[in-house]
Amino acid sequence: MTSGQDIVRLVADQQDLEQFRKKNWVGTFADYLDLVRDNPRITRNAFERIHDMILSYGTDTLEESRDRITHYRFFDDPDSMGLDAVFGLELALSHLVNALKSAAEGYGIERRVLLLHGPVGSSKSTIARLLKKGLERYSATDQGALYTFGWAEEASGEVQWCPMNEEPLHLIPPRFREHTVAALNEGTSEDGYCVKIAGELDPFCRHMYTQRLNKYDGDWTKVVHDVRVKRVLLSEKDRIGIGTFQPKDEKNQDSTELTGDINYRKIAEYGSDSDPRAFNFDGEFNIANRGLIEFIEVLKLDVAFLYDLLGASQEHKVKPKKFAQTDIDEVILGHTNEPEYRRLQNNEFMEALRDRTVKIDVPYVTKLSDEIKIYEKDYNSERVKGKHIAPHTIEMAAMWAVLTRLDEPKNANLTLLQKLKLYNGQSLPGFTEDNIKELQEEATKEGMRGISPRYVQDKISNALVVHSNSQSVNPFMVINELESGIKHHSLITSDEIRSRYRELLGVVKEEYENIVKNEVQRAIAADDDALKRLCANYIDNLKAYTQREKVKNKFTGQYDEPDERLMRSIEEKIDIPDNRKDDFRREIMNYIGALSIEGKPFNYKTNERLYKALELKLFEDQKDTIKLTSLVSNVVDAETQVKIDVVKNRLIRDYGYDEESATDVLNYVASIFARGDAKDSA
Ligand SMILES: Nc1ncnc2c1ncn2[C@@H]1O[C@H](COP(=O)(O)OP(=O)(O)OP(=O)(O)O)[C@@H](O)[C@H]1O
Ligand SMILES: [Mg+2]
Repeated sequence: MTSGQDIVRLVADQQDLEQFRKKNWVGTFADYLDLVRDNPRITRNAFERIHDMILSYGTDTLEESRDRITHYRFFDDPDSMGLDAVFGLELALSHLVNALKSAAEGYGIERRVLLLHGPVGSSKSTIARLLKKGLERYSATDQGALYTFGWAEEASGEVQWCPMNEEPLHLIPPRFREHTVAALNEGTSEDGYCVKIAGELDPFCRHMYTQRLNKYDGDWTKVVHDVRVKRVLLSEKDRIGIGTFQPKDEKNQDSTELTGDINYRKIAEYGSDSDPRAFNFDGEFNIANRGLIEFIEVLKLDVAFLYDLLGASQEHKVKPKKFAQTDIDEVILGHTNEPEYRRLQNNEFMEALRDRTVKIDVPYVTKLSDEIKIYEKDYNSERVKGKHIAPHTIEMAAMWAVLTRLDEPKNANLTLLQKLKLYNGQSLPGFTEDNIKELQEEATKEGMRGISPRYVQDKISNALVVHSNSQSVNPFMVINELESGIKHHSLITSDEIRSRYRELLGVVKEEYENIVKNEVQRAIAADDDALKRLCANYIDNLKAYTQREKVKNKFTGQYDEPDERLMRSIEEKIDIPDNRKDDFRREIMNYIGALSIEGKPFNYKTNERLYKALELKLFEDQKDTIKLTSLVSNVVDAETQVKIDVVKNRLIRDYGYDEESATDVLNYVASIFARGDAKDSA
């Protein structure tokens, strides 16, 4: 057993005193200049830092429909084991990163509000949360380090830190900057980063500075002698470098929340309300300095404040009550819902807004496999204990969600479900990658409407708890939850949409039926020995047929003509017409020949089409002996039960079912077969 001492030692091994010392480093202004000489990047502005932070996680290049897309690993949330990972939004995220890059380069985007715009539940908040968490962590690393300063009191030695965590280089008066910067950049660092100084002291520091300048008869060197420099660790909880603003109702908005407020208790101490020491620079804009401020539902902001916000981004300045404009260095990230944005589209201030924002569309996911990942993050066997999630449950819910978001294809030969499959990377005969691109291009608003993942998450959660006496949750339970919720869904405003969403549930049910029918068929035919025998038999006949020979009958020992009926009954399963059978047979023989030249054995599993044909044939031969349909009548004799159990165990072994869900699925498929459509399912 682990003792208390062991546990303490465990922690001791993990703590990093070196890091602690670095993070708690305090030095003089001259020490800081040494640090800058060593690593000029500690002076990066907020845009440069956030951009470097994202890139520090690395990138991958994805090929999709012939496009090369950059995937930023940062958004996989590797530090929290993918907890906030964003899936399938490569395009939106690269718009965002490109905007940050161009802001970092100083091309003008740094003077805009970055506006994440999209339908409800499209992961806008998740993206903002990732950026905030990322900045916190980055600021605690060596590469992400940043510093601020404070004023040491001679008598007490106490330091009053800059309330806005400003860059220490602001202490250098404008007239000295050119020389200082030149000296700092002399013999530029290895990576070629050049120090720049932008911005002036905030009112509090300006006051401290002037006070000391007077005291020391204008000797700047003496002023900075009183300065202490320390690391800044960005932290949303501590309100350092990361702010969030969410407008309350319109009448209650107050500028002090953004730019700080007078501290009435201190007025008495300092004698005036315009003494910056009697002011709390604790508005969201102030505290978010050096990092990022997030504006939730930015369009609900009162128009007057909205202009403040636009000013803050354009000028990089805010105006605290009673004080001059104050410089800020922070990324301003807003987000807004699609409906909110549309509602305001005709409003006059929209134009001002549109002009000063960079809108980044964050749509819903339209690729099924990505949507599945969203739900698997929350509903997997790790997180859902004591309940089995039947195969295809998440997939069907995700399929419906994606279907609601897709535009009906203009091509009449393509169903919506087929379009979904094309988007999902499946191939359909007659459709090329160019066709897929065309489809995406003709549907420009795709992903900006439809069902939100949040709705689906809620319904899956419901399905998990309401069926308390079953051990597993199956697609029907979830589909039923999804369906009953449509009635009361507050965001579905028209009956037309409501009935369309219901129809799409029908499409999903039908698809599910096909999938499980296929699975049960394959499970019935998943008899390796029988398949091998059938395959050998087929190949023997094939060989004889192509070489115009006879086949030795193992039973009678006589030589018979090749069994045409057997061969055709297999080939028909994969739609090989009579006039193409010779080609097919030759193809298979060539295939086997080619393998044997390479010294590889032939196995029925190595040829996908033949495998399928054999499975279907075996299924047809066996389905009557298994008498699956007897499940429907509830009288199952012992012999049949044994056979059914074999199939059930295959479903459990090969397809991820548990006992209960395998039984359910067998019963369900039996009822479909009993309806007599077993044949056309092939
Ligand atoms: N592309 C995606 N990748 C991963 N998760 C996603 C994605 N889209 C939505 N989600 C999930 O959906 C849920 C809602 O996301 P989030 O709260 O970030 O949305 P939002 O856009 O801020 O919504 P709202 O507009 O209502 O504020 C979260 O659980 C999130 O993980
Ligand atoms: Mg949100």
